[in-house]
Amino acid sequence: MNEIQTKYLTTGKEDLKIAGQIVAKGGLVAFPTETVYGLGANAMDSKAVANIYKAKGRPSDNPIIIHIATIDDLEKVVILENETDRKIVELLAKNFWQGALTMVLPKNKNVPDKTTGGLETVAVRIPDSKVALEIIKNAGVPIAAPSANISGRPSPTIWQHVADDMTGKIDAIVKGDRCTIGIESTVVEIKNGKITILRPGFVTVQDIERTIANLDFHVKVTVDKGILSTSETSEKQKSDTNKLTKDFQPKSPGMKYRHYAPKGQVFIIKGEAQEVKRKMEQLEKMYQEQNKKVGIITFAQEDITDSAYELFYQLREMDDLEKEIILIEAIDDNDGIGFAVMNRLTKAANGNVIYV
Ligand code: TXA
Ligand code: MG
Repeated sequence: MNEIQTKYLTTGKEDLKIAGQIVAKGGLVAFPTETVYGLGANAMDSKAVANIYKAKGRPSDNPIIIHIATIDDLEKVVILENETDRKIVELLAKNFWQGALTMVLPKNKNVPDKTTGGLETVAVRIPDSKVALEIIKNAGVPIAAPSANISGRPSPTIWQHVADDMTGKIDAIVKGDRCTIGIESTVVEIKNGKITILRPGFVTVQDIERTIANLDFHVKVTVDKGILSTSETSEKQKSDTNKLTKDFQPKSPGMKYRHYAPKGQVFIIKGEAQEVKRKMEQLEKMYQEQNKKVGIITFAQEDITDSAYELFYQLREMDDLEKEIILIEAIDDNDGIGFAVMNRLTKAANGNVIYV
């Protein structure tokens, strides 16, 4: 791919107009959302969306989330014929939009196959970031935006991390603030009166269950088996991850790829706090004796949202410091956000979990 001149834009009014214009004309702009930075293009323009896949090196069967600015724009990208599903969508939208919930729904025929990876459904959310919302409004079209990292790398939460991956490949980068959440949205499918969690994220299963209890009919909320089996596998410390994908094909295409990985080798250490500390010290010493650069990541265990905030940022830090071995303390994955954080960490570690 030829290098292109990447513009750096501020979050000032005029620059956000330029960002919108670039998208409207079929270009690529990276911009902040509250979760992670996104790499945006006109969702209805298959050529523009094709360039997202190129810039990221993303497999073409991995569909992209469409970002809209208002609930009125939902009908532009989805068709809601099932009355029960409509009620569920309305309630979830009322409670979680703008915000970190992505809904997978039957697609409107105007949405190109390129955006949905050939699926009959489309993923959509209204972000809760003023900058993102203004760019979508200025563009005047729904914006398809995956996380703005090279495929397989940790998602970017500051514009500098976007610049590391995307300079020379896209038209512009909006230099916004650090993302306030730090982990991606929760992806849920709504179908035949049921909700399935396809990717855990900042909005938890418990949040959704609490909200949905307000309906006057029962709605089943389940977690896609393709996700559960990932942690089950690491529990048993199986190395054969191929078997896993054969047995439980995740419904969200993105969940089957290795992901979120820094350049160094990642180990997650799980167990009672004192034991974890001892094991980390022992491993650190062992690798240092082999002349390896060792990095350590620990989280504030009592503040689970802080682990989401730090997760990708710290993984990228490890790359900047050229760490070859990265030891990470596990967090409690029974909590909803902890489940999402551990999902990302297990992938970053390629299943390398050490139990103590
Ligand atoms: O917070 C976020 O969701 C960020 C910001 C930029 O909005 N975006 C993001 O996009 O994380 P991406 O492309 O990195 O992840 C999208 C996930 C993938 O796992 C993809 O497979 C899934 O959503 N997805 C998209 N459309 C889908 C569909 N129609 N059916 C099932 N899964 C879908
Ligand atoms: Mg991503």
